[in-house]
Amino acid sequence: AASLPASVEALTLQSTAQTSQFTGCFPTLNPMDIYREHIAVELGKAAGIDAQKIYSRIAWTKTLDQGDLSLPVASLQIKQNPIELAKELASKFPESNLIQPPVALGPHLQFFCKRQPLTSTVLGRILKEKAAYGTNGNQGQKDPSDPSKGQKKIIIEFSSPNIAKPFHAGHLRSTIIGGFLANIYTVMGWNVIKMNYLGDWGKQYGLLANGFKYFGNEEALVKDPINHLFDVYVKVNRLVSEQEGPIKELKEQIKAKKEKSEDVTDLEAQLAKLVDVSEDEKARRYFKSMEDSDPEALALWRKFRDLSIEKYKQTYARLNIDFDVYSGESQIKSESMSEAYKLMEKAGVSEQSEGAVIVDFTKHGAKKLGKAIIVRKDGTPLYLTRDIGAITERDQEYHFDKMIYVVAAQQDLHLAQLFKVTELMGHKDLASRCQHINFGMVRGMSTRKGTVKFLDDILRDVGDKMHEVMKKNEVKYAQVEDPEKTADILGITSVMVQDMTGKRVNGYDFNLDAMTSFEGDTGPYLQYAHARLCSMARKSELDVNELVNANFDLLTEQHALDLVRLLAQWPDVLLQTAKTLEPITVLSYLFRMTHMLSSSYDVLKVIGSEPDVKQARMALYAAARQVLNNGMRVLGLSPVERL
Ligand code: ARG
Repeated sequence: AASLPASVEALTLQSTAQTSQFTGCFPTLNPMDIYREHIAVELGKAAGIDAQKIYSRIAWTKTLDQGDLSLPVASLQIKQNPIELAKELASKFPESNLIQPPVALGPHLQFFCKRQPLTSTVLGRILKEKAAYGTNGNQGQKDPSDPSKGQKKIIIEFSSPNIAKPFHAGHLRSTIIGGFLANIYTVMGWNVIKMNYLGDWGKQYGLLANGFKYFGNEEALVKDPINHLFDVYVKVNRLVSEQEGPIKELKEQIKAKKEKSEDVTDLEAQLAKLVDVSEDEKARRYFKSMEDSDPEALALWRKFRDLSIEKYKQTYARLNIDFDVYSGESQIKSESMSEAYKLMEKAGVSEQSEGAVIVDFTKHGAKKLGKAIIVRKDGTPLYLTRDIGAITERDQEYHFDKMIYVVAAQQDLHLAQLFKVTELMGHKDLASRCQHINFGMVRGMSTRKGTVKFLDDILRDVGDKMHEVMKKNEVKYAQVEDPEKTADILGITSVMVQDMTGKRVNGYDFNLDAMTSFEGDTGPYLQYAHARLCSMARKSELDVNELVNANFDLLTEQHALDLVRLLAQWPDVLLQTAKTLEPITVLSYLFRMTHMLSSSYDVLKVIGSEPDVKQARMALYAAARQVLNNGMRVLGLSPVERL
């Protein structure tokens, strides 16, 4: 059970576009659209108001006591006191077999669905559509009225760690949020390209290659490339800093002597010698040979890169993520960059400054963006320069409709500069198709042993902790088939749910105890809720395929109705999430549902109920499990069936 493939791409996508007179209305995909359509048409007729206008003003509600849908009547822009208008519209609304007479509350009209039709529509659909319930393939259609035009294409660039450097919390968040965004766009019918833009180029790879000659070990490299390269990197950097001291000292001596107009020829020769044999200089030369396509230098670098990617892939798989493209700073062609220089020059965007080429944004209506160097004095490109090359390369290669960069808020300025330069270069349309999705910092992410070298270290640590938590309940622990594996999944869920709790821009403290608790709105709690529904289904011994034929009329309790009303919202929650691009939109919905579930178990018992009541209630729980499962998968989690 624990090894279920969890990729949302396994979900079949619903895209039967049934025409409605209202744009964006898909009654066959979204049960609430049946009600929106109904309200708009009926109210429009009864009150003589444009139905399209009503349709577009119908809002969803935050809590069930506000109704299933509501209409803020002031938004209809009718010259009448809104409180009076709400009352008048309520009284005009005709008798309906779908909804109860609307309630006028202040300037709002509240609509409550009638129990029977809602229950049979919603439960029937969920049990039939299963994983596809809530998906909406029309959203990603280039032209919803003409499917032959094809899907919209989006590149989501995320994770993007730097080879041989630690995988820090920023990369972790980018990975989690990026994976989630990829899922959202997938279930909305977009053609999604997941791209990893590795930090895999620069002088540090010269340093690493030389370091490997001193400290490296083939066997260790193949066995555990990430950790081994990191060790080498740390060791060779130690050499660099050891050498820095004497060099700095000499430089100071020279400066002092020069001030006194003394002869410094000897000292300068000494300095030149020291610099010449320094690791820093050797690294510079090595990197130069890489830039000049020296085959040997490139072969070693490629080996580091390939082995690291292999390892990354294994770890990403634990998070249900697989990238379509491993790009990286190394992949950007120098022609793309020189093309960009030319465009900038031609557009009068760039200028010479002390031997370097810079862009002074303050002169181009973007005061806040300051100045940025595009080409260094020695002619080498920078991080920003490569990004400028990359953005145009990607545009030409993929012809995307949208591109998202999932990068920490620390790089807000960098991405703002990138988009602005792109625009100034004359690619205004390209810039407008790009979006930076940022996020706040995680404070205190470290393993119990200390530093984080790679994602694996964190995941292993949290998995261990989860294993300890599970062992505390001996009886249950004995029933779990593969406790290690389950602990691993629970650990990953813990990290991810903690990360997705709260808005992206907010940072948070990495708190191992809080995230692994079964109490509160945590990952383990969500998994527990899912496993409990699975266990209920097993114990009921009912045929799951028969549940869709249950007599839903027997679900008369308020608890049952409220649960159905919540399940009806799932397609809307997904649509809303596609707007907010916030994992919390999904997560808080799932917690609302799981809370409601736990207060229902005592009222809506399955075991011990009359056979037909038992079947109807089990159908309700099975539908809830399905929606919970769909939601967890969109978040990138792997729901467990036993715990
Ligand atoms: N490798 C970079 C870092 O670790 C993140 C790359 C973000 N993406 C980009 N296109 N600049 O800081």
